Amino acid sequence: MKILLILVALLLPFNPAFASDCSIKITGSDMMKYDLQEINIPSKCNSFEITLNHGGKLPVSAMGHNIVITEESNFMPVAQLINMDNGIENGYLPVSDKILFRSDMIGGGESTSLTVDLSKFDSTKSHIYFCSFPGHWAIMKGKINLL
Ligand code: CU
Repeated sequence: MKILLILVALLLPFNPAFASDCSIKITGSDMMKYDLQEINIPSKCNSFEITLNHGGKLPVSAMGHNIVITEESNFMPVAQLINMDNGIENGYLPVSDKILFRSDMIGGGESTSLTVDLSKFDSTKSHIYFCSFPGHWAIMKGKINLL
């Protein structure tokens, strides 16, 4: 058993598809903040899973959080599309080809995950993730780093 554990420990760093490299957890709070300012995505991953946890207690209607990903140059244009009329089920956003990915919007104690297909990123561009709950995008945003 001991030998097996040592073998596993030795082999893991050399496995390029080791799952934990291709996923990340990020938490939003009732203070309107994410706990990460950047998300690093290794280019060796075919897809990357972002799990968003809401560590607060407020309901989704008052303090909803999600993850929306755009090219940096499209961040402001998309943020300006945020409107209550678009519905919470759409993250208050309309359909737009400027939006690369969008997770469900969740409230306190909830969790959701977003699977990111790396082929949708233009590696020559910078990318941003943000929360599209009205008023949150100014603070709840960060950089996507394609490594
Ligand atoms: Cu939010």
